[in-house]
Amino acid sequence: MRKINVFDTTLRDGEQSPGVNLNFEEKLQIAAQLDRLGVDIIEAGFPAASEGDFQSVKAIAETVKGSSVTGLSRSVKKEIDAAWEALKGGEEPRLHVFIATSPIHMTHKLRMTPDQVIENAVDSVKYAKQRFPRVQWSAEDACRSDIDFLARIIEKVIDAGAEVINLPDTVGYITQEEIRHMFTYLRETVPNIDKAILSTHCHDDLGMAVSNSLAAVEAGAGQVECTINGIGERAGNASLEEIAVALKIRNDFYNAETGLTLNEIKRTSSLVSKLTGMVVPNNKAVVGDNAFAHESGIHQDGVLKESSTYEIITPDLVGVSANRMVLGKLSGRHAFKEKIESLGYNATEEELNKVFKAFKSLADKKKEITDEDIFALMTEEKAGEAVKYYEVEALQVNYGTNNIPTAAVTMLNPEGETIQEAATGSGSVEAVYNTIERIIGKEVKLKDYRIQSITGGRDALAEVYVQIEYEGEEASGRGTANDVLEASARAYINSVNRVLNRKKWPRPKTEKIHV
Ligand code: KIV
Ligand code: ZN
Repeated sequence: MRKINVFDTTLRDGEQSPGVNLNFEEKLQIAAQLDRLGVDIIEAGFPAASEGDFQSVKAIAETVKGSSVTGLSRSVKKEIDAAWEALKGGEEPRLHVFIATSPIHMTHKLRMTPDQVIENAVDSVKYAKQRFPRVQWSAEDACRSDIDFLARIIEKVIDAGAEVINLPDTVGYITQEEIRHMFTYLRETVPNIDKAILSTHCHDDLGMAVSNSLAAVEAGAGQVECTINGIGERAGNASLEEIAVALKIRNDFYNAETGLTLNEIKRTSSLVSKLTGMVVPNNKAVVGDNAFAHESGIHQDGVLKESSTYEIITPDLVGVSANRMVLGKLSGRHAFKEKIESLGYNATEEELNKVFKAFKSLADKKKEITDEDIFALMTEEKAGEAVKYYEVEALQVNYGTNNIPTAAVTMLNPEGETIQEAATGSGSVEAVYNTIERIIGKEVKLKDYRIQSITGGRDALAEVYVQIEYEGEEASGRGTANDVLEASARAYINSVNRVLNRKKWPRPKTEKIHV
């Protein structure tokens, strides 16, 4: 069976999703989970793009040991140098360098002739090879490029030292038949093609990213580039979980397999969804909440008699487990630690102490604590802000159907002073946000607000996700609490703290303090 390398770009192309901005700790957390999932390559970011990107790519390269870590660079020496500085501490430094090859991009964006593009691509691969043991070259907008021009440039960059040739469908335009033809033609035409692995990278503008990636595999692609939950630019990238499970379930057809630990899929999907704030639709293949739910009586009857009647994927294949151990008020530290480990976390003693305390306080208010609750507490701890510039100390809200909602908030400001304020709003959340804004003393524009419950039940934890604009920067924030107003306040403060942390790079290494 052919082995297909999985190149995950959740932290690079996925992070380009509108409204997504992961902080340093969140990127590290996702990278560790991708490593557990067993992806072959993690594209950790675009090191030349910003100091934040540079630092997170560097930290991921230095800490991830199983997967190979790469970073993106345009065909520009300065960017290749930045990528080298970020990636050189990794086990197997790998560069992903690209230039556009379609007539539209070469004429209007690059303003270069095809020969100049070839010269530039060859020079940058040669330059990268002086440092990086592994170089991947991408032809941006390959699927709208002239195929004979592609064949010409690919031969030259392979001669220059590129070992992986990636052919992106940058704008999600190609069809299955066309992509199959493109890969087949290039494999038959480029004389030195055997020296490289061909890779596919499809976007989902026409909803065909997964099927196009699989068609490329049929035609000889040895690497698929994809993201968890299919997040990414515009309509997103090909979804990793769908490709991986399709190759597993239909290996009779594709005769190809990945090296992934498939039962880490659900956890990875939940983590990425939580940290990016991008909700997975209930009907999403493989990881949606309804992916294994049988509603019609005829289907339920069939599944009870023999699950294969209507179920082609078993829930446990992707890590959706039916029998979850539930913890409660009387559960001890030992059972709690085991649960944390079974969820895939390596918690330090300090983290364990803090999360155990949060668990105990939650257990006082909520009868049964499920995996989802513990997962929420743990991700909150791991992805906490480096510094809490503002902190909510106390919150009181007065609401009545015939009264004007009023909030009173006590907060610690960055100078460590306690400030108290009150304000009204047209609803309770607005009253809370108006009060916090008054304390901060600057406008905080709320661009998005979403709320969901982490589990079912009246005593469920509430999780609020916000997107704000503050001091000219956009940021998202999350807050979890038993009470929706407290969760709302936390999310709002969390997003303001993220902007302040970003502005103060490199961050002061003070201890995290918890609300
Ligand atoms: O979609 C695309 O073309 C890309 C390249 C930079 C690889 O993401
Ligand atoms: Zn892309």
